[in-house]
Amino acid sequence: MTKVLFVCLGNICRSPTAHGVFAYQVAEAGLSDCIRVDSAGTSGWHDGGLPDSRSMQQAADHGYDLSFIRSRKVTSADFVEQDYILAMDRENLKNLQKICPQEHAYKLKLFLDFADLPVSEVPDPYYGGNEGFERVLNLVELGGVALLDHLQKTHKYFVSNFY
Ligand code: 4NP
Repeated sequence: MTKVLFVCLGNICRSPTAHGVFAYQVAEAGLSDCIRVDSAGTSGWHDGGLPDSRSMQQAADHGYDLSFIRSRKVTSADFVEQDYILAMDRENLKNLQKICPQEHAYKLKLFLDFADLPVSEVPDPYYGGNEGFERVLNLVELGGVALLDHLQKTHKYFVSNFY
């Protein structure tokens, strides 16, 4: 089982979107028994809360459900238990690097580093308009496809779609 944790600041916009979209992509690929998906925030500001209503709406418009996700803060156990800890932007990556034990630091990466895109960060949409949430959804879908491809190759997950 490969464990993937998406991390942003509040765990109500970007990382829950990645959580819901990537879980859907993993399920579509028939790999839910091989890849476990989770998300968390570097702040605890929205602990226990649902994803932001704008993220939920944007996701629903594209056929994804985020209503099962509740915001939580990254814990020290995450550094031990997770295999991939993927930050949405450099600020969150830097903050994770400050608190992650050295032996687990190799797990920390930027989510979009797996994708061949002209951008490497998923911008914070919280204080902006709806176009920011649409951009998050689009980047997360592209990043998810690239991450899934990487995991399938790295961990040799082969699933037959023919039977
Ligand atoms: P997220 O967005 O990190 O993508 O969940 C934010 C959510 C809340 C806040 C900032 C960013 N906030 O300032 O409360």
